Amino acid sequence: MRLPLLLICLVCLCLLAGCLENSNVPGVTRDPEESAKTAYPDLPDSSQAVELIERGEKLFRGLTCEQCHSTGSERNGLMGPPLGGLSDRIIEQEDNDPLEARRWTLKHIKDPAKYPSEFAGQDDYRGAHMTPFPRITDEDLRALVEYLFSLR
Ligand code: HEC
Repeated sequence: MRLPLLLICLVCLCLLAGCLENSNVPGVTRDPEESAKTAYPDLPDSSQAVELIERGEKLFRGLTCEQCHSTGSERNGLMGPPLGGLSDRIIEQEDNDPLEARRWTLKHIKDPAKYPSEFAGQDDYRGAHMTPFPRITDEDLRALVEYLFSLR
């Protein structure tokens, strides 16, 4: 009678440890490099893009990004840089490669400390740190990044 109980306890502990480690949330790839390749094996075609952008806009609102970022060209007193025209900036940063630019943006969202933007460390952004978002699914990240890349 005792042994099965012990086994059940052990199994529960392992499950709990797995949850805390966040290692197997469906659709979430922990490693940012891997996540970027899973979410972006290719560029979306134009019909896919329309749907992704629509979904990404909702995600942007739901994930509190708006608290720190304007979607236009002015910072509007917010903590983070304005995201209007983001795609041009990041595509240039990534040697004119639109796919790598999207992958970089995704990695930045998951782990901004490891993949800081050009604004990190600038005088205007002293003490400003972006919250990491490690638990967004790859599918949602693809939509979110497509939305960001649609901002002019
Ligand atoms: C607590 C404030 C805060 C929140 C919330 C936040 N950010 Fe940021 N974000 C920043 C700051 C500060 C920077 C610039 C410093 C850095 O690179 O970390 C930044 C930088 C960025 C950049 C790089 C901009 C560029 O031109 O290079 C992107 C893209 C971005 N954030 C997207 C997002 C998205 C998408 C969300 C929501 C999922 C989000 N941020 C939530 C503060 C925030």
